[in-house]
Amino acid sequence: MTGRTATGHRVNPLRDPQDRRLPRIAGPCGMVIFGVTGDLSRKKVMPAIYDLANRGLLPPGFSLVGFARRDWVDQDFAQIVHDAVKSYARTEFREEVWRQLSEGFRFVPGDFADDVAFDQLRRTIEELDRVRGTDGNHAFYLSIPPRFFGEVVQQLQEHGLAHPEAERWRRVVVEKPFGHDLASARELNDTLAEVFPAESVFRIDHYLGKETVQNILAMRFANAMFEPIWNSNYVDHVQITMAEDIGIGGRAGYYDGIGAARDVIQNHLLQLMALIAMEDPTDFDAASLRIEKQKVLAAITLPKRLHLTTARGQYAAGWSGGVKVAGFHDEEGIGKRSTTETYAAIKLGIENRRWAGVPFYLRHGKRLGRRVTEVAVVFKRAPHLPFHTSATEELTQNALVVRVQPDEGLTLRFGSKVPGTSMEIRDVTMDFAYGGSFTESSPEAYERLILDVLLGDPPLFPRHEEVELSWKILDPILEHWARQDERGKSRPEPYDAGTWGPASADAMLARDGRTWRRP
Ligand code: BG6
Repeated sequence: MTGRTATGHRVNPLRDPQDRRLPRIAGPCGMVIFGVTGDLSRKKVMPAIYDLANRGLLPPGFSLVGFARRDWVDQDFAQIVHDAVKSYARTEFREEVWRQLSEGFRFVPGDFADDVAFDQLRRTIEELDRVRGTDGNHAFYLSIPPRFFGEVVQQLQEHGLAHPEAERWRRVVVEKPFGHDLASARELNDTLAEVFPAESVFRIDHYLGKETVQNILAMRFANAMFEPIWNSNYVDHVQITMAEDIGIGGRAGYYDGIGAARDVIQNHLLQLMALIAMEDPTDFDAASLRIEKQKVLAAITLPKRLHLTTARGQYAAGWSGGVKVAGFHDEEGIGKRSTTETYAAIKLGIENRRWAGVPFYLRHGKRLGRRVTEVAVVFKRAPHLPFHTSATEELTQNALVVRVQPDEGLTLRFGSKVPGTSMEIRDVTMDFAYGGSFTESSPEAYERLILDVLLGDPPLFPRHEEVELSWKILDPILEHWARQDERGKSRPEPYDAGTWGPASADAMLARDGRTWRRP
């Protein structure tokens, strides 16, 4: 029997299992985390697992195995997860959820070269399959520096952990940095590919797990009104900003030698750019999305004169949130001569019919004025204004701003008449805010992505082709900066903490007759 909705759509009371509105619940499975003592595990991965359990999206027998070089037993590991969940989980703490989840915790001590430890890991997984019903399905989360990936995946292979029995799965989850440049990214991909087939490798770019980022595709392709103007006929330029007010914190070891471009532009910002600029996919499956993203990434070009179209900076001492903060060179673990940039801005183009001639400006910095990530699509001015010039003096360009975070939503900026008897037109905005339109709160990116790993749902995970294409874009810029350093020609320009970056970044836009937005 079928019924109809108010809009006339047919509904089947025996609900369609393909219905994407139904909660997606992972089947029997477990996860092993390498690097349980790291920041990422404690702040993101462990809390997300608890949040998924709390929302009823994990199987009842879910198991979590920690692997680290620590003299711990299962209870010590459970305590670490407990503290992480208490401090960082999004949803409320419920004893009964915790009790059930923590019964599936195990800890295996050992280092990555330790064959005995990997044998114990295999026995632990077999025991979990028996007592928790994880059924031979396990994900290995490598929350460890990439230089250890090769050793760990080889160990998984040698100890019979990498390859599942029929109808079961084994997956590996890796975090950025996916290499240091194109050559090292290729090496890393080869290392993973020696053991795991491409469809079993899940690369986390947590920006793709954010609701607002996924919504870019919904906005563009579920509506009729944006696409007709989404091209070089109407768009003047695009600004993609990821500003942070924090400094490098305790991450000097990771950050020094990496810098803003590798840390964020190579992955998060180029993925945002791909979603904004790609053509519509034929379907929403992983293969169709990747084809379109790869096409647009392959069409991205760099302008010729990199000294004029890129900018880099380093934060100096200043103020952040009313507190005096140290400059980059005074952060613990950073040498006085470090040339690692904490701010990077670059100008890119796209050589295709839709975007030829439209500049995309990408910038990211630490210790800027406030934390904000947004994509602003700035439109050309109206071809003709039938008003006295004084009436439109304060009118700027129309813009559609995707507010990725915080204050998630969309803003449309356009001109409107100021009420009164005279004629004056000024900018106004029309806003969509998640809080105002939906009662559901957004899950953390890691909840979504970990659930997708357990479900084997790949659309939100970049493939190695995308990673390599992104490095191809960035490598010439990094090489250019390295040459400048070697020749002592220029260094990252200092900017005061709490400001909006170095003057050279402003000059870069001024050359094109534009200014950065001050979000
Ligand atoms: C990470 C970077 O990928 O993203 C960090 O390595 C950065 O340097 C972080 O602070 C920001 O993430 P979010 O979700 O807070 O914008």
